[in-house]
Amino acid sequence: MSTNDDTDTDAQAQSDVDYEEDRLQSTRRNAAKFFAALGGAAAVGSFAVTGLYGLDESARSGGPDYNYQTLYTQGTRVVDGEGNPVTVDAIPQGSGESMTVFPEKEGGGALKVPIATTLLVRFSQDAYEEPTMLDGTAQGYSAYSATCTHAGCTVSQRTGPNDQNFLCPCHQSVFNPLQGAKVVGGPAPRPLPQLPVGIAEEGDQLIIATGPFEAHIGVE
Ligand code: FES
Repeated sequence: MSTNDDTDTDAQAQSDVDYEEDRLQSTRRNAAKFFAALGGAAAVGSFAVTGLYGLDESARSGGPDYNYQTLYTQGTRVVDGEGNPVTVDAIPQGSGESMTVFPEKEGGGALKVPIATTLLVRFSQDAYEEPTMLDGTAQGYSAYSATCTHAGCTVSQRTGPNDQNFLCPCHQSVFNPLQGAKVVGGPAPRPLPQLPVGIAEEGDQLIIATGPFEAHIGVE
């Protein structure tokens, strides 16, 4: 025979189960939205808007094994959203156009953990100014983390004269890629970290990292 205490305990247990299911479903929805947006973001020009709100820290980083020093190391190939290596002719020199890229995984393919999303842009080589890390540019290419340093949204749009600058759609922070992605508008507290890139000499002249990101990615 059940008592009032038993009934209360059963109701509480069911409530706990319902809460946990809701929480898990919410987390899965957020993760699914993020990766769906990433799939659509790998294009030259303007990109899909991707917010990272609702994802916990491990989901945003992609797991404890990844940080700004391990995503790319010297020689890591830069690949597009489909995992294809990016060649030196992917973006016309001096165009200022950009594309979303990722580090290549061991064994091939794009490492699409959230903090790995990277903006590759190509201007004229002589257009760059300090504080750009000039020895991290090559034949007009430079690369920056796409994770906003304000609150972690994905920097996905262009703005300014000739769409020169990167724009974060969440709170309109603006970064100038010709000056080390320094902040030129909005609330972001620091530049987008630069990824040093070079051109592999042999073979198809692929874009490669020449080292890791220069600084922590996203919100410090
Ligand atoms: S998250 Fe980019 S401006 Fe706020």
